[in-house]
Amino acid sequence: MKCSMFTFLFAASASASTAALPKVPAPGADGRYTLEAPGIRAQFIPYAATLTNLFVKDKNGIERDIVLGYDNASFYPVDPGHPVYNAIPGRYVNRIGNGTFSIDNVTYHTVQNDGPNTLHSGPDNWSFRVWNVTDVTKDSITYSIYDPAFSTNMPGRVEATVKYILSKNRWTIVMDAISPEAKTPIMLTQHTYFQLDAFAQPDNRTIWNHTLYMPKAKRVMLVDGNALPTGVIKDIPKDDIADFWSKPRKLGFAENKTEFQGYCGGDGACHGYNTNWAFDEKKKASDVALTLSSDFTGIKADLRTDQEAVVLYTCNWNDGKTEFKSTQGVADGQDKFIPRDGCVAIEAQDYVDGINHPEWGRLSRQIFGPGQKYHWESSWTFGLVDDDEPSGGV
Ligand SMILES: *[C@@H]1O[C@H](CO)[C@@H](O)[C@H](O)[C@H]1NC(C)=O
Ligand SMILES: *[C@@H]1O[C@H](CO)[C@@H](O)[C@H](O)[C@H]1NC(C)=O
Ligand SMILES: *[C@@H]1O[C@H](CO)[C@@H](O)[C@H](O)[C@H]1NC(C)=O
Ligand SMILES: *[C@@H]1O[C@H](CO)[C@@H](O)[C@H](O)[C@H]1NC(C)=O
Ligand SMILES: *[C@@H]1O[C@H](CO)[C@@H](O)[C@H](O)[C@H]1NC(C)=O
Ligand SMILES: *[C@@H]1O[C@H](CO)[C@@H](O)[C@H](O)[C@H]1NC(C)=O
Ligand SMILES: *[C@@H]1O[C@H](CO)[C@@H](O)[C@H](O)[C@H]1NC(C)=O
Ligand SMILES: *[C@@H]1O[C@H](CO)[C@@H](O)[C@H](O)[C@H]1NC(C)=O
Repeated sequence: MKCSMFTFLFAASASASTAALPKVPAPGADGRYTLEAPGIRAQFIPYAATLTNLFVKDKNGIERDIVLGYDNASFYPVDPGHPVYNAIPGRYVNRIGNGTFSIDNVTYHTVQNDGPNTLHSGPDNWSFRVWNVTDVTKDSITYSIYDPAFSTNMPGRVEATVKYILSKNRWTIVMDAISPEAKTPIMLTQHTYFQLDAFAQPDNRTIWNHTLYMPKAKRVMLVDGNALPTGVIKDIPKDDIADFWSKPRKLGFAENKTEFQGYCGGDGACHGYNTNWAFDEKKKASDVALTLSSDFTGIKADLRTDQEAVVLYTCNWNDGKTEFKSTQGVADGQDKFIPRDGCVAIEAQDYVDGINHPEWGRLSRQIFGPGQKYHWESSWTFGLVDDDEPSGGV
């Protein structure tokens, strides 16, 4: 039993077939693996295949930790809030409408943990598991997960690997998965929360002054009061609340539009974005799909992805009681609380709830098996906002 499991595991990862988990170094005393490449340093833990720290240099040459997380690696598994900080939720990310889907006329019900819907596959989702680390080098780490059939009420076991690679100024993420025996939904993402100011701006810790440009994101999924797509995919007019395609804009450019309040669900209580944009069908995996930057630190992040959509969440639900890391902020005795709107999660993935919208034509990209291979690949390249090139106002 065990042997066949690992044979499949490594077949899925395209590594050499082997009967046992390879020996890997233990993490450091702080529970983290630390990887490095020119211009970038990052730390990872086995829990949820999580990135805990991501250091790049700002315009003054100061190293900044630009992702959310905790100082204490042991806190991730017990954190009651569980914001899925820079982890891999699965096997089907984001929402499943009414916790219901059908494959070949068989209807399945997943746990309704987000109003009437399922979020991130419900209980026992992949972001709540300690993954196996199967390889570590100075600039890469590889994880694997074995997800038994019906652990999240979805048919068929799934075996998946996630590989993080650092290279000059770049973080690359490669995910592979296979469902050997049955058709099942598979949709993954790296659920990365950014704060390019690393909370070092003394008087403003919100995300609204970050600049976002998504030249290839001209369509958006309309949603109901629970942030579930209604099925309508809208072409985004210039100056619409979702228009980050016509020019770079401050994330908060629409803060005074009436639709800003309630745009991200919560039955009207959520302001800002928890929004799914579809990229142009002609976008190539090598194109920059979006750029996030902050003039305060001058840090710029370019996303390239083979995915055809992206979800952005502007951290409306932060309750102001969680602290940022000791590697962030300014060391002058200020409090360390992350405010509402204090970050942005950027999640390259496929169309949310596409398994319930056959009219979108996404079934072949969201339902896999038996034996079909799922592949996901993205990279973040970090640089500085060009001094002579305006990053765009509102
Ligand atoms: C880290 O978190 C764990 C789990 O909550 C806790 O037991 C431990 O005391 C924490 N360590 C520190 C240094 O806060
Ligand atoms: C909605 O979910 C409930 C509970 O899982 C289920 O009984 C019901 O059939 C579902 N409704 C639809 C329209 O799928
Ligand atoms: C699903 O049900 C429809 C209508 O009864 C039928 O035509 C179709 O062949 C069924 N598909 C499968 C895969 O069983
Ligand atoms: C993931 O699973 C955990 C543990 O079962 C559960 O408490 C949580 O609600 C799930 N989280 C999400 C976001 O679905
Ligand atoms: C990690 O490997 C062990 C066997 O060594 C296996 O029992 C376990 O299910 C694996 N964990 C995950 C998350 O896949
Ligand atoms: C921070 O700046 C943004 C505009 O960039 C503004 O919307 C917000 O109200 C400010 N927040 C605070 C706490 O000053
Ligand atoms: C927002 O950024 C601009 C530069 O892009 C700066 O002039 C302005 O002071 C910032 N506003 C806040 C509230 O931080
Ligand atoms: C929104 O309105 C407030 C109050 O009038 C103003 O300070 C702020 O600059 C406006 N924001 C934008 C993006 O125009």
